[in-house]
Amino acid sequence: MTDADRPAVAELICISTNDWYQRHGRSPVFPGGPSATTIFADVYEALDPGCCVVAEDLTTGRIIGSCFYHPRPTHVSLGIMNTHPDCAGKGVASALLRFITDFADRERKPVRLVSSAINLDSFSLYTRAGFVPRCLYQDMWLAVPADGLNNLPADAARARDATLHDVAAMMALEMEVAGICRDKDYRYFIENRAGFWRVAVMPGAAGGLAGWIVSSGHSGLNMIGPCVARDEATALALLVRELDHYRGRSPLFLVPVECSVMVRDLYTRGARNCELHVSQVRGSWQPFRGVSMPTFLPETA
Ligand SMILES: CC(C)(COP(=O)(O)OP(=O)(O)OC[C@H]1O[C@@H](n2cnc3c(N)ncnc32)[C@H](O)[C@@H]1OP(=O)(O)O)[C@@H](O)C(=O)NCCC(=O)NCCS
Repeated sequence: MTDADRPAVAELICISTNDWYQRHGRSPVFPGGPSATTIFADVYEALDPGCCVVAEDLTTGRIIGSCFYHPRPTHVSLGIMNTHPDCAGKGVASALLRFITDFADRERKPVRLVSSAINLDSFSLYTRAGFVPRCLYQDMWLAVPADGLNNLPADAARARDATLHDVAAMMALEMEVAGICRDKDYRYFIENRAGFWRVAVMPGAAGGLAGWIVSSGHSGLNMIGPCVARDEATALALLVRELDHYRGRSPLFLVPVECSVMVRDLYTRGARNCELHVSQVRGSWQPFRGVSMPTFLPETA
């Protein structure tokens, strides 16, 4: 993708995603049009310039497919993948995916992503290419009352906003819980040049961290995550504290289905499920030693 392609890619993400959901009897994901999807190219290009591959129709010059990827020290993560609905089922996404898996193979790194569990087109695209589904997430949203949430977990008061001094401890915790390293992402969130990121940490024992959480307050994608924590109580305290910040809004977040304590608490607060996602990994993977909540921006798994 060149800079000149960015508006066409934002439009493609919008058309392709809305079309898929509407054809399957659901509401459009981006009802506001391409202005809501420019966030993907903006964030991804700021993080990893030049890491978006596009497919072009050689006759018309039109962009018919796009996919972002993020090389990190331990893995490559794969961002949003789209094919224009007029070209569906012709191998466009498979070709884009092969470009990225070939890159990862040269780097000898696993590839990680989150894909919808109700979208068999994308689920199958990845499993046919050798990805293995690893963890299931409930996509939940919560309408946060204008005067805030009641009963914040006691631990929420111990959390504080992150600074760049926390990057090393954030990295150590994610390495321990998920076996991956992506300090570049943490710096980007904490520096917050785009103005819509928030990062909080929960102090742990011996100067380390028990958890950390990121959220996007962007009008096109108000989403909480990624979050990494040693245990469910810490993840819940960080999540509820973050939700309480978005008063009068309805943030989206992905909770691992096995985190039943979190899920039960979130239901009592009125959270609703809207979809299911699954983390998929091609190559080596270690089971999570704690809680890991992914997001769509940037995708992690
Ligand atoms: C998901 C999406 C990207 C697929 O794009 P596409 O260009 O139509 O996909 P392809 O034609 O390359 O087909 C993908 C692969 O899945 C396989 N496949 C599709 N449905 C399948 C099924 N039900 N069972 C088994 N395999 C299936 C195809 O055979 C193909 O594999 P192959 O190349 O080895 O034959 C496209 O539907 C899309 O943009 N959807 C909306 C946005 C979205 O959901 N993005 C993904 C989430 S980030």
